Amino acid sequence: MQVKQIFVAGAGLMGAGIAQVCAQAGYEVRVRDLTEEITAQGLEAIRWSVGKLVEKGRVEGTVDEIMGRIKPATALAAAEEADFVFEAIIENLEAKRDLFAELDKICPAHTVLATNTSAIPVTDIAEATRRPAQVVGTHFFSPVPMMKAVEIVKGLATSNETMDIAAELCASLGKETIRVHRDVAGMVLNRINFPSTVEAIKLVEAGVASVEDIDKGMRLGFGRPMGPFETADMAGLEIGLNAMLTVYRETRDPKFHPPMLLQRKVKLGHLGRKTGIGWYKYDSNGKKLGPAD
Ligand SMILES: NC(=O)c1ccc[n+]([C@@H]2O[C@H](COP(=O)([O-])OP(=O)(O)OC[C@H]3O[C@@H](n4cnc5c(N)ncnc54)[C@H](O)[C@@H]3O)[C@@H](O)[C@H]2O)c1
Repeated sequence: MQVKQIFVAGAGLMGAGIAQVCAQAGYEVRVRDLTEEITAQGLEAIRWSVGKLVEKGRVEGTVDEIMGRIKPATALAAAEEADFVFEAIIENLEAKRDLFAELDKICPAHTVLATNTSAIPVTDIAEATRRPAQVVGTHFFSPVPMMKAVEIVKGLATSNETMDIAAELCASLGKETIRVHRDVAGMVLNRINFPSTVEAIKLVEAGVASVEDIDKGMRLGFGRPMGPFETADMAGLEIGLNAMLTVYRETRDPKFHPPMLLQRKVKLGHLGRKTGIGWYKYDSNGKKLGPAD
């Protein structure tokens, strides 16, 4: 199948990033969030990011050419022209299942439906459709225009053809793919990463080391571009919490249990960069000011 038209559901951090890399690669993209205003904010974020990449000579074409390939959609019905759908809405099983059931009714028979979930098993989402063989996980990493990895996740019913279509599409976006052969909660990379994030938070809770020093150590000692707290602030603390809970509920393994400090911060609305405070504080331009506590 040749993918020409792509529909992206959700224009938040990940949806905007996915729409951006699709348009940069030459695809026609429709993007839809819950309101026209949120969709417009997503498009603004994409324009800013494309502008930076064009300025640095990292992408071909002009900002207007790339943005010309992305159109906001006011209704889900716009997905009727899509060959491939990337879903990047909130990390909530019911919301994703409702959306997939709707998309299943609207999209042509050949359309592949892909979820960007951080942790929910693909089968649990696919089961809401009449085309589970064409439902797949495509797990991008943030910031999408910079991070090369995408996990291609096979649900119990996902066909090999769908896996290939998703992997080839992601490769055409300039990504490297990691095949996940069974859809365990958290897939592969988060299954490895979450226990270390849980441990980092526990060390802060116990007063063993500061947020700043742990981030510094993980950057300088392990060559990571960002420490676990910096990454969590960029991704959104609630995203990490929900994903950890999904893995914990499936495995009951305490190494995935989200520590109390993380739970309290999310309850308070200290979600990271997007709310101006998470593990660090930020100014209105998103510039880091210092530790939150
Ligand atoms: N943030 C990360 O680093 C990261 C990394 C990998 C995967 N993910 C996953 O990607 C998905 C999106 O995460 P995000 O960080 O972009 O979240 P986000 O909160 O930035 O964006 C989610 C968007 O979905 C919208 N939305 C909610 N219901 C919708 C619906 N029915 N239709 C259309 N839009 C709807 C919201 O208005 C919001 O703008 C989640 O499943 C998350 O777990 C996130």
